[in-house]
Amino acid sequence: MNSEATFFMPPAISTYAGDVDQAYYWIYYLSVFLFVAMVGAMFYFVIKYRRKNSLEIPSGPQHSTVLELTWTILPFFLVMAIFLLGFKGYLKMAIAPSNATEIHVTGRQWSWLFTYGNGVESTDQVLHVPKDHPIKMIMTSEDVIHSFYVPAFRIKHDLIPGQYSSLWFEAKEVGKFDLFCAEYCGTSHSNMLGKIEVMEPKAFETWLEHEHEEQNKAVAPEVLGQRLYTKFACVTCHTTDGSPRVGPSFKGAYGRTEKFTDGTSGVVNDNYIRESILQPQAKIVAGFQPVMPTFQGQLKDSDITALIAFIKSVK
Ligand code: CUA
Repeated sequence: MNSEATFFMPPAISTYAGDVDQAYYWIYYLSVFLFVAMVGAMFYFVIKYRRKNSLEIPSGPQHSTVLELTWTILPFFLVMAIFLLGFKGYLKMAIAPSNATEIHVTGRQWSWLFTYGNGVESTDQVLHVPKDHPIKMIMTSEDVIHSFYVPAFRIKHDLIPGQYSSLWFEAKEVGKFDLFCAEYCGTSHSNMLGKIEVMEPKAFETWLEHEHEEQNKAVAPEVLGQRLYTKFACVTCHTTDGSPRVGPSFKGAYGRTEKFTDGTSGVVNDNYIRESILQPQAKIVAGFQPVMPTFQGQLKDSDITALIAFIKSVK
């Protein structure tokens, strides 16, 4: 099957992408055919049966059983064909093969977290998967509804707080593919971007083992802090290069005196950072909106300490 991108579609990377495309093209070309046939017939009749002189009196329409049966039965088969094509593809997508590897996917404002069977957690918004092997994703959200959307895989599925949904796919080609959040989930929804990296099975095993080792190593707080910074995608709103985004940049933030929206001011110190992570609305730096979600319950005290060390290190 052709995995190249076409005018209408991105490359078809998952095993069932072909079925989705088949249904799409079937409906598309059927629509084109019907449009041309109907508009063509309309023009033909308009010209053929136009009033040729002002005295002409047309005869009224007559009943035709054949015609009525045709326009009832033919569309019935056409829409049944569309239904069957869609249903066939849906069944394929709904039932994961029994040898599928499970990966947990968590959506939150505004980042993706992928948790692998050996406890490894993604730290960079990239879902690594092996090629030619079914992956079953168990998905949930920590706050609002997000939607896992990978155009190249032809998959899109909601992540719903307080409930698990699942989805599977098998990638046929190595490469990096875009992952979008397709459900408006707040201020930084459009920045809730990720990638799926499809790897050769051997390379994937090596990567997973390497991550396992790395993540279980004791590291300096600021290194752990940097990991958490990308893991929770703080980077979506807070840069480290001084440019403000949705929130203030971390560059040189530590130790600075900030003016707050309530007119008071204060120094950015350990306690201020801690408060801002757990109760983001308490003191908003002037010029910014109170849109940051709380990370209460998502970060341990040691994580917050690490993040403070990281922010301190961004000069
Ligand atoms: Cu998450 Cu939009």
